[in-house]
Amino acid sequence: GATIPIAPADAQPERQQPSKLDECRRCDLWQYATQAVGGEGSKKAPIMLVGEQPGDQEDLAGHPFVGPAGKLLDKVFDAAGVERREIYLTNAVKHFKWEPRGKRRLHKTPAQREVEACHYWLDKELAAIKPKVIVALGATALKSVLGSGSVTLKDKLGKPIMHEGRWVVTVYHPSYILRVPDEEAKREAFKVMVDGLKLAHELLS
Ligand code: URA
Repeated sequence: GATIPIAPADAQPERQQPSKLDECRRCDLWQYATQAVGGEGSKKAPIMLVGEQPGDQEDLAGHPFVGPAGKLLDKVFDAAGVERREIYLTNAVKHFKWEPRGKRRLHKTPAQREVEACHYWLDKELAAIKPKVIVALGATALKSVLGSGSVTLKDKLGKPIMHEGRWVVTVYHPSYILRVPDEEAKREAFKVMVDGLKLAHELLS
């Protein structure tokens, strides 16, 4: 009798197993981005920092954390006494999600399904780098790292969690510090980040 052709699981976009990041079609964000932005840093880095997604400048440059958030991160590393070579920098989502606002491209928070689709790449990075400590920058990174949509940043800030055999330290996203208008709140948030990086460093020994 006639057989009904069934598409293999791999034919579904979210099941795709692309070998190159820039060819990824696991979600739709590639259509609007200039390019995919993978992680960068020492392949032996014991600390992996996970951000949310590339911003406008990262999307254009093809490198993570080269814009304002990255400049702020550099200040945090300096203040914490953490060296760049100890750190591998990446993002939960590898394509820039944005909406037009006049001539500007305004950042849009990635959806849970986009974070889940992109976890494929984070897993590859974790397997290759094998960091001892992950520093999650903000709620999207935390949800991605823990694989749970129901975690809140506030409960986890600054407290190390053991997850799948490695430490996870949660701090604010650097963009939060850039955004918050109150100087006092800015200083406090910066301190949370510095203390988080120091803690990550201490957890290595
Ligand atoms: N914000 C992020 O989360 N990641 C980047 O790479 C740049 C800005």
